Amino acid sequence: MQTKRSYIDGVHPEAELLKEGAEWLQAGELVAFPTETVYGLGANALDVAACAKIFEVKGRPQDNPLIVHVCNRAMANILVDSWTPAAELCVRHFWPGPLTLVLPKTANVSDLVTAGLANVAIRMPNHPVALRLIEETGLPIAAPSANLSGKPSPTSGSHVWRDLKGKIPLILDAGACMVGVESTVLDVSGEVPTILRPGGVSKEQLEKVLGEVRVDKPSKNQVPRAPGMKYRHYAPHGEMILMVGSSERVVQRMGHEIHKGHAKLKKVGVLCTLESAPFLHNRLPDLLFVLGSKDRPEEVASSLFEGLRLCDERGMDIILAEGVEEGGLGTAIMNRLQKAAGQRIQYI
Ligand code: TXA
Ligand code: MG
Repeated sequence: MQTKRSYIDGVHPEAELLKEGAEWLQAGELVAFPTETVYGLGANALDVAACAKIFEVKGRPQDNPLIVHVCNRAMANILVDSWTPAAELCVRHFWPGPLTLVLPKTANVSDLVTAGLANVAIRMPNHPVALRLIEETGLPIAAPSANLSGKPSPTSGSHVWRDLKGKIPLILDAGACMVGVESTVLDVSGEVPTILRPGGVSKEQLEKVLGEVRVDKPSKNQVPRAPGMKYRHYAPHGEMILMVGSSERVVQRMGHEIHKGHAKLKKVGVLCTLESAPFLHNRLPDLLFVLGSKDRPEEVASSLFEGLRLCDERGMDIILAEGVEEGGLGTAIMNRLQKAAGQRIQYI
C-alpha cells in the first residue's frame, strides 16, 4: 500500500487535509494522527472490520483493548452506558487532555474494541488536529499508539513513518507531540477511582479533584486490569539497565558499565539527565542522549521515546538510562523506563 505523509499545521489544521483523513476513516481505512500524548492509529470505532485492521497492522494481541477517542460529550454518550460522579468530575477538569476514562460500555461498542471487557476506555485528546479530525469524521475513533506492537510509542510523524510506511494510506504529520508519554488510564466505573496505567495526568492531580485514588498493582500471578500493561512494551533491542540514585553515583556506575561493555566490544548508549550529562562525556559512551532536566519532568517525558528509538537506530547493544524521581509525571516516566528495561533496575 502507498502511504501518503501529509504535513499538517498543528495549530490551524488545513481543512482539505482533515477532509482527506475523514474520508479514509469513513471508508473503513486507518489514519495515523497526532495527539498531545503520542500519535494514534485511528479507525472508525463503530466499524468492526476497520478496527480489526488496527490489530493486523500493529501486530497487536487481540486481548489488548483499544481506547476510543471523542471530540465532545454527545459522542462519548454513544459509547458509555452510565456515568459515575467521579467520571463527571474528570470530564470537567481534565478533558480535553491526557486522561482516559474506563466506564461501562453500550451495545454500540464491539467486543473487538474492548477485548471482550464490559467497560470501554474513552478519551478526548487535547490536540487541534485530533479534535478537528474526529469532528470532521463525525465518528468516535478507536486509536492505539501508532507504533508496531512492542516498540516505543511514536512521538513524531517520523516515528510513525518508520513503523507504518506501506501499511496504511495516510499519516497526518504535525511534528512532535507535547506530552510524550501516553494518557493516564483511570477506571472510574467503581467506588474508588483506580489508575490502571500512569500517564500524562498524575495521581496527585487526580487526588486534588477526586479525593482517594488507588493504583492497580497486580501481584505476580494476577493479570493487570489494563491488559496492555502485561506486555513488555517500549522495549528497545539493546539490553537496557535503569539506574536510580544520586547523579554522582549514577555517573560513576555508568562509567563503570561503559568500560565493561567496551571490553566486550559492545556499543553502549546513555540516556541521562541534563545534570549528569557533563560528567558522562569523558566516559566515552557510543551515544549520549540528554532526556532533560531533573527539575523539569515534562522535558524528560517528551523526549523519552525519541531517546529509546535513537538507541535502536544507532545499534546500541547496551542502554544505560538514568531514572528520575517518582511522583507527578515522574511516576509515568519511571513506569515506561522500567518496562523498557524489562525490570533490570539498579538502585545505587
Ligand atoms: O495517550 C494515549 O492513551 C494514546 C493516544 C493515541 O491516545 N493511546 C494509547 O493506546 O496509548 P494504547 O492502545 O497504546 O494503550 C491503551 C491502554 C492499554 O494498556 C490497554 O490495555 C488499556 O489502555 N485499555 C484500553 N481499553 C481498556 C479497557 N476497556 N479496560 C481497561 N484497560 C483498557
Ligand atoms: Mg501502545
